[in-house]
Amino acid sequence: MTDAAGVPPAPEERAARLLERLAAGGASASQPGGASAGLPGGASETADADRIVLVRAPGRVNLIGEHTDYNEGLVLPVAIDREIWIALQPWDEAMVELTSLDLSRTASFPLTGLTPNPARTRSWIDYVAGTAWSMQEAGLPVRGFRGVLDSTVPVGSGLSSSAALEMASSWALAAPGTPRPDAAIMAAIAQRAENRYVGVNCGIMDQFASAAGRAGHALLIDCRANTFVPAPMPADLSVVVCDTGSPRRLDSSAYNTRRSECELGARLIAEREPGVRALRDVEPEMLARNREVLPEVVAMRCEHIVNEDVRVLATVEAMREGDREALGRLFAASHASLRDLFQVSSPELDAMVGIAVSVPGVVGARMTGAGFGGCTVNLVERGREEALREAVMARYPGMTGLRPSVYAVTAVDGAGPLPGYQGRIEGGAGPKRG
Ligand code: GLA
Repeated sequence: MTDAAGVPPAPEERAARLLERLAAGGASASQPGGASAGLPGGASETADADRIVLVRAPGRVNLIGEHTDYNEGLVLPVAIDREIWIALQPWDEAMVELTSLDLSRTASFPLTGLTPNPARTRSWIDYVAGTAWSMQEAGLPVRGFRGVLDSTVPVGSGLSSSAALEMASSWALAAPGTPRPDAAIMAAIAQRAENRYVGVNCGIMDQFASAAGRAGHALLIDCRANTFVPAPMPADLSVVVCDTGSPRRLDSSAYNTRRSECELGARLIAEREPGVRALRDVEPEMLARNREVLPEVVAMRCEHIVNEDVRVLATVEAMREGDREALGRLFAASHASLRDLFQVSSPELDAMVGIAVSVPGVVGARMTGAGFGGCTVNLVERGREEALREAVMARYPGMTGLRPSVYAVTAVDGAGPLPGYQGRIEGGAGPKRG
């Protein structure tokens, strides 16, 4: 749910809309042919039927550290103010009925008997059911609910709408009164949902960023230790996302090929270097002295990963020092490496980066996320965001025939309940504040 200019609605307005729709019975109210009108399968609401909960989970943009997560390396994502919100009403039934307002679809699933199925179609509801499955596998009790959902995270743009859906679901499903494991563990539970239940072999970065985000900060995540340190965003820089308008075409097979090339590289190096478990353990010098045992393509993939880990730490340092020149160099090196060595960029991403770096006030620009489409991330001097937007709007469509979108994002807190909206639907709709 964004307006024509792609601007998310004000929180009050958004909450009111969700709560109204929840009170009205979700999509079923406006969808006579929808999956259900009212309660599914004769389910009865609890005595506490007017109790409502609002939860949210952010998408993410990765500043640097691309494809390093599944190599047990370092990443530096930011949880952003593009979020999935769910308003829900718990009930006693062991089932979930959820309406997506954006898709105008209602879907439901039982909480018992969920099983991974590699042939799954990867429908949006599978991410919710997968989270329920994974939480139960981890021994966490889940509750049934009826809910409505809306999203300001664009789908297929590489800003992790799937991870946001999983993390929002994990809060919606959490049985009250049960201690919640920390964000790192919840991220691993959500990642398992995606890997095993939905069948997408992603790393842990996206779920971790959505779970653990910190307002005003990026997160330096160590994907081996599963720990993070918040890194303050420089106050004089904005993070601007440029969406190429070409959907992220990272089919699982290209992603999985990159993963196995990296794993092969680590295995071949480990034959000569005891103690190497993953590319995380390989320093640039170690790679150089073992390069001859690697097939050329594998060596290229390894070179990207090994140097990208170094660039993540250098970026944190440059942010701390406010060293714009270093930030620009690091972003440029990361983009070039993803384009030439890891080979996951695209003509559209390269064009977008090319435009951005020519705009005064743009400190750094690079592709972000898995690649083959989606978005670039830009560090821009505050006050110069509009200049970047204008340059992209003026030049990019002519270069690619595509319609881009450009927007500044801010670093927000990770997923959780929306404080101030827990309460009851009074007179049918509207939150009870406080
Ligand atoms: C996708 C995956 C992440 C990560 C990035 C690339 O977003 O979900 O785990 O591997 O690609 O950095």
